[in-house]
Amino acid sequence: MVTTAPRSRRSLWWLAAGVVVLVGAWWLTFHLRGILIFGLRDDYRQAVPYQAVPAGLTSLRAESCGQCHQAIYEEWKTSIHAHAFVDPLFQAYWRKDRQIWICLNCHAPLENQQPLLIKGLVNDNAERPITEPNPRYDAEYQLEGITCATCHVRDGVVLGPFDDAVAPHPTRYDPRFRTTEICYTCHQVKSGALQFYNGGPCATFFEFEGGPYAKRGYVCQNCHMPEIERPIAVGGPVRQGRQHLWRGGHSPEMIQRALEAQLVPPATEVRAGGEARFLLQITNAGAGHSIPTGDPDRSFQVELELKDANGTVIRRQSHTISRWIIWRPVILEVFQNRIPPLQSRAYYLTYRMPDAARAAGMTVHAKVTYHILTEKAYDRLKSKYGLTEEVPHAFTIFEQTVPLTSHGPRPVVQTATATAPAGSFGAAAEPMPCSGEPDMSVHGGLS
Ligand code: HEC
Ligand code: HEC
Ligand code: HEC
Ligand code: HEC
Ligand code: HEC
Repeated sequence: MVTTAPRSRRSLWWLAAGVVVLVGAWWLTFHLRGILIFGLRDDYRQAVPYQAVPAGLTSLRAESCGQCHQAIYEEWKTSIHAHAFVDPLFQAYWRKDRQIWICLNCHAPLENQQPLLIKGLVNDNAERPITEPNPRYDAEYQLEGITCATCHVRDGVVLGPFDDAVAPHPTRYDPRFRTTEICYTCHQVKSGALQFYNGGPCATFFEFEGGPYAKRGYVCQNCHMPEIERPIAVGGPVRQGRQHLWRGGHSPEMIQRALEAQLVPPATEVRAGGEARFLLQITNAGAGHSIPTGDPDRSFQVELELKDANGTVIRRQSHTISRWIIWRPVILEVFQNRIPPLQSRAYYLTYRMPDAARAAGMTVHAKVTYHILTEKAYDRLKSKYGLTEEVPHAFTIFEQTVPLTSHGPRPVVQTATATAPAGSFGAAAEPMPCSGEPDMSVHGGLS
């Protein structure tokens, strides 16, 4: 009795200390890391400076450029760039990030489109901006996201890829339009302090540079802005130009171009008791960078299933192709298994062959789906961050079913070493031009 009282008091102290440590760790987990999941670089830490309407024009609005550049305007309107601000997924994530200013520098980058002028950062901390209201803010223009003037207008002059344009507005030839430099500013994001990515979030260049396509002089435009011959302005001469489409992760057709998949049965007949081995081979046959690229939310889901004659699943495996990132208390990319350009990945399903009666009717089923974000993340945007619109966010990219008893010589699979049929978009032996001959690429910044 004499000794138990202090001992229990001592254990109470320990308990209290433990609680303090746990609460402290919990607090650190949520407060050590700030809102931003990337670092700042000089070219996107500022908005694109205010642009005035070039002489000869009445407005900077895309619609007004569209009076003369109709086809380009119609294409742009369907692109994700035109939706970069109104995009419901952007809006929901932006709310989650307390509408921090920096997001606008890529999603609605012109000063004309931003309500606040950023005069500086306290202690160089992006979360403590010194702001002033922007008297020239145009709220409607903000909705245009990445608009014509973002890429084409500087200092009252319209910049473009030609040196002989005769236009009702001043023009200037700018070689960057035919290089990757024009995309670099926004599609290469760096890691910040206490952020340990293998390349930043939403970044594509580090996967592209030094890769097989970059080595052969491809630029992003070869695949994302298909080449076309047409007048570039109403009544102008026919020229070699490019469609302003920028299809990517939101387009199932575009993802199908990137990915080649094949379910390959055993080469020879497998007798009862023998092991039947099915190969699902997936190749990044058509993208100049890893798939998935960019946004770390993106993933491929690979499923292999064995079903009996009634369609009941007997065996099931699933694999994810993505990046695995710990987000708190610091950002740490632990592992990633995305597929680099022209490389393949193999998945196997093996099964001991039953007797002929049972085996008849059994099937092997392969499916690959692409996910803009996980179901869990999507639901969280709905329940916590005000996402109200339904956004298509998962697409079936490949599906194939073969009988368990099937066999045969391995079909000519489009692997990284196979020979590509001439003209096919996706086949992978040699990088194929997606549209037009590659130009030489360099990059710097857009300012
Ligand atoms: C009144 C008609 C008209 C309007 C409005 C107009 N343009 Fe043009 N633009 C032209 C014509 C004509 C050409 C030259 C076509 C040619 O030479 O093939 C041209 C050329 C261009 C070029 C190519 C320049 C080069 O040197 O490579 C770009 C880029 C361009 N315009 C962008 C714009 C943008 C952006 C807007 C809106 C801010 C706009 N235009 C508004 C008629 C117009
Ligand atoms: C001013 C910044 C900026 C520039 C310059 C820019 N992009 Fe983008 N791009 C974005 C943003 C932001 C998104 C994502 C918008 C969204 O989903 O809300 C995007 C999305 C894309 C997508 C994905 C489409 C999808 O369906 O997911 C592709 C492809 C793309 N851009 C290609 C390009 C290419 C090629 C260039 C150069 C010619 C380029 N971009 C220049 C900011 C930019
Ligand atoms: C993300 C940057 C970006 C945006 C936004 C953008 N363009 Fe372009 N634009 C380019 C690039 C890159 C080229 C060069 C294509 C090539 O190599 O021919 C180009 C080329 C052009 C040309 C010359 C014709 C051609 O196909 O080369 C015109 C005209 C033009 N753009 C008008 C517009 C108009 C109008 C809008 C808005 C509706 C717009 N652009 C939006 C990047 C952009
Ligand atoms: C050889 C063709 C090719 C080249 C070169 C290429 N891409 Fe792609 N890109 C694709 C294909 C195909 C897809 C669709 C697959 C996907 O979304 O993962 C794609 C997807 C994308 C996406 C969408 C990712 C997503 O899911 O949101 C972005 C962003 C992108 N590319 C940017 C770029 C940039 C920037 C460059 C230049 C540095 C570039 N691409 C060069 C073919 C190419
Ligand atoms: C340096 C330029 C840059 C900045 C700054 C930036 N983004 Fe983006 N963002 C991009 C690009 C490029 C993509 C397209 C990546 C892809 O498709 O792979 C993108 C895509 C997205 C997407 C995916 C949209 C979709 O439809 O799938 C969301 C959400 C997003 N950004 C939110 C934000 C938020 C919130 C911020 C600020 C905290 C921010 N971004 C800041 C360049 C930027």
